[in-house]
Amino acid sequence: MKIPFYKRFQPAEQLKLIESALIQGDLSSRGAFTEKLQEHFELWDQIRHIRLVTSASSALELAMLVIAPEPGAEFIIPSYNFPSAANGVLRAGGVPVLCDSDPVTKNICLADAAAKISKKTRGIIPTHYGGISCDMDQLMELCRSEGLLLIEDAAQGVGSTYKGQALGNLGDFGAYSFHHTKNYSSGEGGAFLCREDKWMEKAEILMDNGTDRSRFLREGRNSYSWQQGGSNMILGEAPAAILYGQMLHRVEIREKRGRVHHYYSHIFQEKSLEEKQIFPMKLPDYGESNYHIYYLDCPSLEVREQLRTGLLEDGIDVRAHYVPLHSSGKGRKMGLLDRDFPGSTRIAETILRLPIHTELTEEELAYTAERVLQRIRML
Ligand SMILES: Cc1ncc(COP(=O)(O)O)c(C=O)c1O
Repeated sequence: MKIPFYKRFQPAEQLKLIESALIQGDLSSRGAFTEKLQEHFELWDQIRHIRLVTSASSALELAMLVIAPEPGAEFIIPSYNFPSAANGVLRAGGVPVLCDSDPVTKNICLADAAAKISKKTRGIIPTHYGGISCDMDQLMELCRSEGLLLIEDAAQGVGSTYKGQALGNLGDFGAYSFHHTKNYSSGEGGAFLCREDKWMEKAEILMDNGTDRSRFLREGRNSYSWQQGGSNMILGEAPAAILYGQMLHRVEIREKRGRVHHYYSHIFQEKSLEEKQIFPMKLPDYGESNYHIYYLDCPSLEVREQLRTGLLEDGIDVRAHYVPLHSSGKGRKMGLLDRDFPGSTRIAETILRLPIHTELTEEELAYTAERVLQRIRML
């Protein structure tokens, strides 16, 4: 049996929605689907300001361009991460300062983030790994007391909450991803979130080639024109129509993924795991997860690799995850060493992600869990 790591949810009405976007004619941007989606997030997730953009990477870059940090300003970013936040900082002329990640939560290590704060620090960019919230009260308190901006990389966190509030909407800025592998996807796509009206006014210009076209459209002015430097980060209507189809089913998508998560968590209570020092992931009780990732923590790289290669032989697509930023080519050029990032290094060596998606059948799920148990017993 072949068990894919990820399969996209295909809503029954998706072709009709795409057809309707095609028939409406203007596929460029700001059509009915974009409007409906932005309203959906505002109402459903109580999001203050949100705009669809081409990716979470563009949303993070946009946040940095809105902030416009003075040259050399520092932003603290966890090492166990995708490079987008660090790229956004570089693009805006800032300096990404990496801190360690917590080997238990896989999120930012607060103590190390606090230790990395200097006179040049302007903000912290935590990632909600696997859609599971960071401890936001502590992070917000740290940022408040140090006068720092909080930019949430909630690329994986669409639909997750912290104490009832949508991830991405708790800090000053937030970013969502609708990339193919995410819970709600449009192939490529993302959203930019921010707290202040004045930031959104700036973002609307920056994401639209530096023009005031948004105002021109909203206020029915005669023309729009170039106001400053900018780029084009606006999502088109065809991907917006695809995403809209997904969001119509957001409850079903979350429930189906939750079923997989809870099935694994139940099966992996077996004592053979504890005997081999393998631990299933745990969810914190301060928030709700969107069940983006399911992982096991292995005791060592050797055990993780034995399990990973064994399960691949069984036809189950299991995966490790990021090469930590500090140990990537760029991190090494920055002179960063593994010994200063023990948490991030440990996660990279010991995490094992299992398939989780809406299309896993009962049979596939049972086979996956059974093979994982078998392989663990064989260790
Ligand atoms: C934590 C994190 N941030 C940012 C991104 C980038 O998202 P996008 O592909 O939408 O640019 C990803 C992609 O997987 C991610 O995992």
